[in-house]
Amino acid sequence: MKREKVCVQNVTYQYPSSEEEALKGVSFSLYENEWLAILGQNGSGKSTLGKLLNGMQLPKSGEIKVEGYQLALENIWEIRKRVGMVFQNPDNQFVGATVLDDIAFGMENLAIPRDEMIKRSEKVLQQVQMSKFKNSEPHLLSGGQKQRVAIAGILAMQPSVLVLDEATSMLDPKGTKEVLNTVSDLMKSERLSVISITHDLEELTFADRVIVLNNGEILYEGTPDNLFEKEQMLREIGLDVPFSVKVTHELRKNGIILEEKHEAMESLVEELWKLYSKN
Ligand SMILES: Nc1ncnc2c1ncn2[C@@H]1O[C@H](COP(=O)(O)OP(=O)(O)OP(=O)(O)O)[C@@H](O)[C@H]1O
Ligand SMILES: [Mg+2]
Repeated sequence: MKREKVCVQNVTYQYPSSEEEALKGVSFSLYENEWLAILGQNGSGKSTLGKLLNGMQLPKSGEIKVEGYQLALENIWEIRKRVGMVFQNPDNQFVGATVLDDIAFGMENLAIPRDEMIKRSEKVLQQVQMSKFKNSEPHLLSGGQKQRVAIAGILAMQPSVLVLDEATSMLDPKGTKEVLNTVSDLMKSERLSVISITHDLEELTFADRVIVLNNGEILYEGTPDNLFEKEQMLREIGLDVPFSVKVTHELRKNGIILEEKHEAMESLVEELWKLYSKN
């Protein structure tokens, strides 16, 4: 049995300015070394849930536990150390003047000694393949590189859970791939658990398990495979699975990883032709 990292029990949340609850009794667990995707249309409560997980806001009722620590004001730093968040816009997350400064920032908040800071910075930059850029300024980096720096900054705090809230939605296909592959490698090397909040059905193909949120409630929980079978349900909540995504998913399960994201069959077929004419 895998160890439970996060346990969410019957959680509700309501914004002060809103009449309706944004989350209405949500329960699930996240296990060690698991990639859980959270899918849902605009306004379904995904980001609200993400923010609760690292204590940026507290539930109205219900309970959240991270490695045994219950989410409450007195535990907020224990929770934040354990749950790192990466957001959508790479530019809003860069706080340092250089890559290295940016990575140091979170560690300074945790009062980590200087020697240890240097050691950790080098390690995390290597892990996201950004060592070469350690003295670069943010405006010289691509979106995918900035998001990898954001991930490195979080890794330096040695979390056990990484929450990505649409972290690839502003990136081009190359940047998206860089970030998702980095996360996937980190899961293997650091035994991290990942929650990726997404609109992108292709991103699901990386996940072990998927939760679909709809109007603040869990509508589905299961494997991506089973979800892709539920076409009717997905259509009803405005999330259609293109055939090309299903094919990409089957190919990946069989060890064939494509370079690009394909919304349309034509481009997928084209890439497959290229791939096989090379071999
Ligand atoms: N700061 C806020 N104040 C009041 N209501 C909010 C606030 N933020 C979100 N909401 C409302 O809470 C609900 C859930 O929003 P949330 O941002 O969690 O959705 P989401 O699934 O992340 O959507 P998106 O895909 O657009 O990012 C929505 O009805 C939204 O309008
Ligand atoms: Mg959101």
